[in-house]
Formats: sequence, structure tokens, C-alpha cells
Amino acid sequence: MNMQVKQPHVYKNIFGWFDFEDLYDYVIDKTEYNAHFVEVGVFLGKSLSYLLIESAASGKNIQVDGVDDFSVITHEYKTKNLKEEFWQNVYQYKLDNLLNDFHELPSNKAIHQYKKESLDFVFLDYTLESGMLLNDLPEWLRKIKPGGFLAGHDGQYLKHAVDRFFDKKEVVWMGSNENPSWLFRKE
Ligand SMILES: C[S@@+](CC[C@H](N)C(=O)[O-])C[C@H]1O[C@@H](n2cnc3c(N)ncnc32)[C@H](O)[C@@H]1O
Repeated sequence: MNMQVKQPHVYKNIFGWFDFEDLYDYVIDKTEYNAHFVEVGVFLGKSLSYLLIESAASGKNIQVDGVDDFSVITHEYKTKNLKEEFWQNVYQYKLDNLLNDFHELPSNKAIHQYKKESLDFVFLDYTLESGMLLNDLPEWLRKIKPGGFLAGHDGQYLKHAVDRFFDKKEVVWMGSNENPSWLFRKE
């Protein structure tokens, strides 16, 4: 394998909600060469920075895109301009060279940027609303290649919707016990 010199991790310096390192590590390990990943819901870039740095270090030529409409409203972090702070982090931590593409769009519009069965991994971290997730899940799943992965955060709030959508198909739960992340491998 063509291992690259690994850029040091910066995610601990970035405010956000990231407890699914194990899921990102697992997917990168299982992914073939020349892959295409998308993270939906980047906020300030915490989890995205991890995915970018680990993907580059894998030497597998993994292209990583980000998606966010920067619509978040949270009392946990005061910011005047989320979009500006996200891009500041990207440049400050030299992630710009690792980022393949970025769509400043809501999830349901960003879906249409991708062709059917073109993606190896999509991670959904943009909503706590079951209805919104259930609307977007079939479309994102259509964009995943056979053998690729669809996953997401916030099982604490979304487990019911995820179980309902995947029905009897196998979903693996990873990340933290309190708020696990789900992972589905498409056949
Ligand atoms: C919980 S935060 C993501 C946390 C991030 N992954 C981290 O590492 O800290 C959710 C993000 O999703 C974005 N968002 C909210 N609704 C969205 C939508 N419909 N489409 C795309 N992004 C959305 C928000 O702007 C926010 O940045």
C-alpha cells in the first residue's frame, strides 16, 4: 500500500460533535482504491478534518467532499458566521489541499450533484429530524455503489427512523454508547 506521510490530527482543536472515529477508521480500512466519500453536515470541520487526514494517509486515493448549508442554529456555540469560520479552519489547518469538493447546499439538493451508484461512502450528520432523514435516505442510498457504505450520526435521536428505513437489513452501531452512529453496507 502507498502510505502517505500523515498530517497531524487537528480535530481536538475544533469545536463540534465527533465521536465516530472508529466508524471512519473502519470504512477507510474496508474501502477499495480510488474511492469517493461525502460528509453531509460539516459544521466547523471537526469530523471532516479527521476523515480528510485519515483518507489521505491511507494512500488509497480517496476523494472527500463536504456538504453543508450552514443553516445551523445552536446555543452551544456562538458564531456570527459559521461559513466563514469553517473556511478559516480549512485554511488554517491546511485541509484545503485534502478537500476534493464542497457543496454549500441542503442535503436534499446536494444529492443531485452525484450520479447513481457513484459514491463509496456517505456520512449523514446534518439533522436530528426523523422526517428529514427518511426523505433523504432513499436518494443517498441510490448514490452508493454496491459494496459501499451509508452511515450517520445521532442514533440517540434517529435510531427509530434508521431501523424503520433499513427494516430487517443489517445495520451496525458504532461510535459512542450514549449517541451511537449507524453504518449500512450496500449489497
Ligand atoms: C451537528 S452539526 C455537524 C457536526 C460536525 N460533523 C462536527 O464534526 O462537529 C450539523 C451541521 O449540519 C448543517 N445542516 C443543517 N441542516 C442541513 C441540511 N438540510 N443540509 C445540509 N446541512 C445541514 C448545519 O449547518 C450544521 O453545520
